[in-house]
Amino acid sequence: MTLEQYLASAQHRVEQAMDRWVPAEAVPPETIHKAMRYSLFAGGKRIRPVLCMAAAEAVSDLPRDIDSVACTLELIHTYSLIHDDLPALDNDDLRRGRPTCHKVFGEAMAILAGDALLTLAFQVLAQLPGAAAQTIRLVEELASASGTVGGMIGGQVHDLESEGQPPGAALLESIHRAKTGALIRASVRMGAIHAGADPEQLDALSRYGTHVGLAFQIVDDLLDVEASSEQLGKTAGKDAVQQKVTFPAVYGLERSREMAERERLGAHLALNLFDDRAERLRELADLIVRRRA
Ligand code: IPE
Ligand code: IPE
Ligand code: MG
Ligand code: MG
Ligand code: MG
Repeated sequence: MTLEQYLASAQHRVEQAMDRWVPAEAVPPETIHKAMRYSLFAGGKRIRPVLCMAAAEAVSDLPRDIDSVACTLELIHTYSLIHDDLPALDNDDLRRGRPTCHKVFGEAMAILAGDALLTLAFQVLAQLPGAAAQTIRLVEELASASGTVGGMIGGQVHDLESEGQPPGAALLESIHRAKTGALIRASVRMGAIHAGADPEQLDALSRYGTHVGLAFQIVDDLLDVEASSEQLGKTAGKDAVQQKVTFPAVYGLERSREMAERERLGAHLALNLFDDRAERLRELADLIVRRRA
């Protein structure tokens, strides 16, 4: 199977899992379910769930319910995008090639759609049929990666509070590791945990996740400068306008590219103890750095 075919098949599985878990548009109150589905099924890359599945595969044959576990990462991620786009945060009009959730459904409904996706992610985990102790480990991973201490929300707080501040290297790295890196690392760890990774495997996969997580946001910053809104499906060039602390702002384009490349190599190195089972993870690290959208 080529990487493209693998991605298409994993994405399809995630979409189906989300379609099973998210109430249909006709279920009352209809507006909120329409808003949730509008943002979810708008063609995101699904990179977090794909990483979750590929990490599981590196450890064992795909475990039962991996699709549900993987889809919780997309539920949290989509919630974070809906809120990131709100006027009070980045104030964006375009996301995944469509008008943002609040542009279509209004701010109140967009806030609630984000809240609902967040809550649903934990409901999905709670309803997994497996052993409770295992489920609790997944809940802990997802909650802490989304949280305020080194997690997504903490990173968003730093991102907002540092707008217009002199861009410093230490601040930059802590923003990026938290706002984006933590959930990507958790994607890899949740796949590994669900597949029964031993401590050595989990440690190696966590290091892989840390590297690809940072690489992902470096490239997001680069694309904000280098790509067009049409390519990205979101407004390009916004980071400079909003005076965000980004890799290009601190290091310039060329050094930022080199730094992303260094993270890619670090990701490969972390996988040394794995054989061909981790080949998809290697390809995904390459894709994350070389992507153009
Ligand atoms: C964009 O994430 C926001 C970041 C955390 C960098 P993605 O680039 O994964 O967006 P989608 O899910 O493909 O739309
Ligand atoms: C968003 O970072 C990180 C999230 C937690 C959503 P950005 O603000 O750079 O994401 P984009 O560029 O709007 O997708
Ligand atoms: Mg933002
Ligand atoms: Mg943004
Ligand atoms: Mg960005």
